[in-house]
Formats: sequence, structure tokens, C-alpha cells
Amino acid sequence: MSRQKFVAGNWKLNKTLSEGQELVSTILENLGDDSVTKIIFPPSVLISSLVNTVASAEHFFVGAQNCSEHESGAFTGEVSAAMLSSVGCKFVLVGHSERRQYFGETNSIASKKIKLALQNNLKVIYCVGERLTERKTNKHLEVVKTQITEALQSLDPANVIIAYEPVWAIGTGETATPAQAQEMHAHIRSVLENLFGADVAANTSLLYGGSCNAQNAKELFACADIDGGLIGGASLKADDFCKIIQSF
Ligand code: PGA
Repeated sequence: MSRQKFVAGNWKLNKTLSEGQELVSTILENLGDDSVTKIIFPPSVLISSLVNTVASAEHFFVGAQNCSEHESGAFTGEVSAAMLSSVGCKFVLVGHSERRQYFGETNSIASKKIKLALQNNLKVIYCVGERLTERKTNKHLEVVKTQITEALQSLDPANVIIAYEPVWAIGTGETATPAQAQEMHAHIRSVLENLFGADVAANTSLLYGGSCNAQNAKELFACADIDGGLIGGASLKADDFCKIIQSF
């Protein structure tokens, strides 16, 4: 069986409208012919416009970096899953370590967001990963198991992708070795198997994130349980993003 391959670019708090349009146009001009699913995650205010920019491109989607845990109501500044869906957004990131660290996103909040996202026809990339102290004290496998179990156990996982992003590798230039990444991805598959059975475990795409770039993507994507990448810094440069897409 062959799982879907993904390269996703998380722009974080970067790019104005004109900068974002220019980046996407350059990416589209330089894409080869491949079956990789590409997703860009721009700041939410740009989503609607960039959905139009990528409309005729194949296997190319726009996602949101976050959505509200609430359906609607008096929650100033929030953007709901239904609103995202209504402007042509197809994916949403949930549980990114920056959301966990700076905005207090817990596994239980992540679970609420995932539920609303799925109800509104968004596919979810759920981010998990241990902090450096947790790896150093050999708790990394347990931490990731808990993140997955607490957020996903009561949900239908059919439209969920998991991104393993060790916190110590995000934006640091330090990447997990292929062996470390593969060990964790195999572990995630076994956690999924325990929760949902062998088919779900075998069919769920698992992405690696954390200083993944044009130089190291090939050896990471060659690992048996890695189905692509969630890319931060290197997704802001068209040339690097395109090279990563060609790394399978
Ligand atoms: P990075 O970010 O590639 O810049 O390390 C990855 C992410 O945060 O998703």
C-alpha cells in the first residue's frame, strides 16, 4: 500500500499579501510534475486570496495555522473552522509546539479544535513532539504517546495526518537524525495501531518537521515511516520549498 506524500509549508508570522502571492507564484512556476500533496499554511488573513492563486494548480492546497476551539460567539480575534472552510481552506494545523508553548494549547484543547475542524471538512495536521529535557530523560516516546492518545482517542482519525516535530529541532537548525525520526514515526504508528487498529496505522501519513530543509529532506523522506515534511523556515524560499518537494 502506498500512503499519500505531503510537503507542507508553515509560514508562521511571515509574509504580507504581496510577498505571499509572489512566493506562491514562484513556487508554482518551478513545480515539476509529481504526485506530492503540497500545502501552504500562510497567516489566516491571506488564505482567501491565496486559495485563488493556487486554484488551478494540481495537488496544491491552502491551510490555516490554527482555528478556534469554539464554534462561534463572543471570542474576539478568533477564526472558526467553519469560516476557514467557507473561504476554500482545506487543512488546519493543530497542536503546533508554538501554540502549545506561547498560547497554552493543551491536548484537550487540541482535541476540541480537531473535532470542529473535521466537522467542517478540514483535514488536520496534528503536531506532536517532545522537548529537549524530555528526550534527555528518555521520556520522548511516552510524551508523544500521551499527546496522540489525549487528543485523538475519541475522534475518527480518517482525515488526520500527524506531524512529528521535536521541539528542540524547530527553528534551531538542529534536525533529528533519520534514525531518531524513524524510531519515533514507527512508535507513532504503533500508538495508532493500539488506538484504531492496523489499517488506520498503515494508512495514516506521518510527517517530520524541525529544521527540515533542501539538504536533509531526502534522507529523512527515505525512512520507511516518514511520508513527507512540515517545513517552517525553508518554506519561505521558493527554491528550497521546491527542492524539498522533489526529495522523495
Ligand atoms: P522549522 O519549523 O522548519 O523552521 O524548524 C518547522 C515547524 O515549526 O513546523
